[in-house]
Amino acid sequence: MSNLVIRGLCARYDTVDVLHDVNLEVEHGKITCILGANGAGKTTLIRSIFGLTLPRQGSLQWDGKELAGMKTHEIVASGISCIPEGRKVFPRMTVAENLALGGFLEKNEATLRKRIARIYDIFPRLRERAEQLAGTMSGGEQAMVSIGRGLMAEPRLLVIDEPSLGLSPLFVKENFKVIQRINGLGITVLLVEQNARQTLAISHVGYVLSQGRVVAQGTAQALTENDEVRAAYFG
Ligand SMILES: Nc1ncnc2c1ncn2[C@@H]1O[C@H](COP(=O)(O)OP(=O)(O)O)[C@@H](O)[C@H]1O
Ligand SMILES: [Mg+2]
Repeated sequence: MSNLVIRGLCARYDTVDVLHDVNLEVEHGKITCILGANGAGKTTLIRSIFGLTLPRQGSLQWDGKELAGMKTHEIVASGISCIPEGRKVFPRMTVAENLALGGFLEKNEATLRKRIARIYDIFPRLRERAEQLAGTMSGGEQAMVSIGRGLMAEPRLLVIDEPSLGLSPLFVKENFKVIQRINGLGITVLLVEQNARQTLAISHVGYVLSQGRVVAQGTAQALTENDEVRAAYFG
């Protein structure tokens, strides 16, 4: 059972505190979401998981092992991948090259080929477009590339930062379906989003982050029925 347990996490940029005593748990096999408005601290939380922002206080235990103090590549090697905000594909590289980058820790060619084939089974569209430059693809296709790249490391936990940002409603729906499918493959997901309604519809458990603090938490159903959450985040 690989869980991520965050306790008393505080983080800051320079002298400004951004996360205050954040406690949360990402349970094995589930989709856990973190909802919050722009500036709530969602990306900072993700940066803390990957050692890109050093926690000022608190602990991040993955599989019982402390992540704080580990190097980012060691954290990735321990089974956590990130799909960053804005997707961040390498525009002048082909789809296949973008995917290959996600598997950089694996040196065995045959294993990498097998992994790419698996990604192409999940996203047949990417197989068709393998040699196309990623920068020339639609937003929805770039979303597939970034998710595929994240999966290339064969993570046990996939952390996804605002996948629906900037996508058309159709692709947003498609993208959430893909995330659900990936979770169905047995991959634990931490999904960070502003889009509360659709996110809660595919999540098992959720947290609401406001100005760097967890202000609500519970099952996705309980959060969906929570009046304050509805008023603040359901538009
Ligand atoms: N590199 C940075 N330097 C200084 N302040 C930052 C930096 N990145 C984010 N912040 C600030 O930290 C707060 C949380 O930002 P962020 O974690 O990006 O929120 P979210 O992802 O929820 O929109 C915001 O007030 C933002 O302005
Ligand atoms: Mg963000």
